[in-house]
Amino acid sequence: MRKAVCPGSFDPVTNGHLDVFIRASEIFDQVVVGVLINKTKSSMFTVDERIDMLRQVVAPYPNIVVDAFHGLLVDYCRDNGIPAIVKGLRAVSDFDYELQMAQMNHRLARVETLFVSTNPLYSYLSSSLVKEVATYGGDVTGLVPDLVLARLHERLHDQQNGS
Ligand code: PNS
Repeated sequence: MRKAVCPGSFDPVTNGHLDVFIRASEIFDQVVVGVLINKTKSSMFTVDERIDMLRQVVAPYPNIVVDAFHGLLVDYCRDNGIPAIVKGLRAVSDFDYELQMAQMNHRLARVETLFVSTNPLYSYLSSSLVKEVATYGGDVTGLVPDLVLARLHERLHDQQNGS
């Protein structure tokens, strides 16, 4: 079975991420969406909440599964028989760091990285921007899946009411 991983923080998952998962799932037999457990980075959603949203979002795609990992991505790849990483490239600005990581991951474990050119509809999109815009009352409808939009509004409402 040809497997690939789409790694990230997904805080929260956007329609840009989803587009990359789906396109990877058309090439590979199984795509694992790998959520990085990073205790040092502050996040809006817990890892469990992010995984729960991701699982609901990818439910219609039987060959996309969701898992969490910590430590090096290449160790997760080795432990799970995954030879390839698939990432979305939004713009030239993504390229330098992505190339660095791809080269390091290849150097460490010969894991290959394949880049999908992001759908132009979502090329300006990031989880951080979505959170910032939503925090200040901007409309992010259509940029994240509907269930994520609802959770985002819920979380912001709770934060603004101190609960
Ligand atoms: O969504 P993000 O936070 O931009 O994703 C970054 C991620 C998770 C893909 C990257 O930080 C990563 O692979 N982290 C795991 C630790 C690791 O392997 N670091 C060395 C990379 S060469």
